[in-house]
Amino acid sequence: MNNFTFYSPTYFAFGKDEENKVGALVKRFGGSKVLIHYGGGSVVRSGLLGRVKASLETEGLPYVELGGVKPNPRSGLVYEGIELCKREGVDFILAVGGGSTIDSSKAIAAGVVYEGDFWDFYSGKTIEKALPVGTILTIAAAGSEGSPDSVITNEDGMYKRGASGDAIRPKFSILNPALTQTLPPYQTACGITDIMAHLYERYLTNTKEVEVTDRLIEALLLTMIHEGPRVIENPDNYDARANIMWAGMMAHNNAVGVGRSQDWNSHNIEHELSALYDCAHGAGLAVTMPAVFHYVMNHDVMRFAKVAVRVWGCQMDFDHPEVTAKAGIEALRNFLISIGMPKNFAELGAKEEDIPKLVDVLVNGNGRSGSISGFVSLNAEDCANIYRLMV
Ligand code: NZQ
Ligand code: ZN
Repeated sequence: MNNFTFYSPTYFAFGKDEENKVGALVKRFGGSKVLIHYGGGSVVRSGLLGRVKASLETEGLPYVELGGVKPNPRSGLVYEGIELCKREGVDFILAVGGGSTIDSSKAIAAGVVYEGDFWDFYSGKTIEKALPVGTILTIAAAGSEGSPDSVITNEDGMYKRGASGDAIRPKFSILNPALTQTLPPYQTACGITDIMAHLYERYLTNTKEVEVTDRLIEALLLTMIHEGPRVIENPDNYDARANIMWAGMMAHNNAVGVGRSQDWNSHNIEHELSALYDCAHGAGLAVTMPAVFHYVMNHDVMRFAKVAVRVWGCQMDFDHPEVTAKAGIEALRNFLISIGMPKNFAELGAKEEDIPKLVDVLVNGNGRSGSISGFVSLNAEDCANIYRLMV
């Protein structure tokens, strides 16, 4: 196991009706004027936004609002949010929604207290300072509610990049599984896929002797395999949604990723798809992961065989471990298809003729120098081969 530090100071309030405490929590974490940031309207239709405003009003907290965050959140609204916060003297950003709203909120929080262009952070500069951010999560997926990360699409070129820094870890996150019951099944399945991807991207490591985190990841994957179909079958199953919601947080606050190298090639390869075609991140990952895994499998076939046996219940073939490894990848693919995820470029709305463009932005865009690195280092030809496997 590698040396590591782990600092994850988010306060979590989990369970039914917890969102009604939001005003008190904003006060507790130092807010006196709030930006309520939200997406395309699901929180208005569900009545959640009204309850949030009532809670802030009860605590005597003034607020301004900025809705309209799109899935795969855009740089334009971030600039608008930064200007609004400066103009209004906002000192606390409250994200009410999914990963896109939370990531847009984090970008605004960092941009308000920075002299330069906030995109500097999405080009490699660490976020050292930001306004405090609180979240009320409405979809279990991205894990942004407990992560130090934010992913934004730059509208000048339509490419997607991430930024990081402990300063943007949410001060508090309210997780009420009942709020996810209004999700369409497709979005629920996209969230399940993203959570599983966050686990796989950590499982694929080149670090030896990491049994504790291997076992934790396997437990979370088994939980997703058990609870995923239950929630797709019955969207009102609160307990299944509760387990998925906490698994989503655990999968990405890095508790299960410490002390080990991680992959993230599937995420990088997918991000170009959701940036160009505006598909859901989870749906893109459902198509990307099996292709990447088949392509890199021989780098450490026993690691793929291990997850196949321990998580997917495949029979170990000691003479031909690659057979076991492949069976595990196919089990993952079939599981994702069974919950309603796409299986190829066509179902995703992606086009084969765009592959050269996708590869170029992926390996050369925004300061990269011809390859991406992770479990295996992949050059332009590798990435093109992987995209072709998805067709
Ligand atoms: O915009 P509204 O109207 O709210 O609708 C949203 C949106 O259309 C809808 N939705 C959310 N909660 C709902 C609901 N509809 C009905 N009832 C509810 N309770 O679902 C749609 C998707 O929302 P979005 O916020 O985009 O989903 P998600 O949480 O999957 O976030 C995806 C974004 O997170 C990034 C992705 O790249 C993508 O841009 N990621 C962020 C990470 C991080 N910050 O740590 C890590 C991830 O790997 C990921 O890359
Ligand atoms: Zn993800």
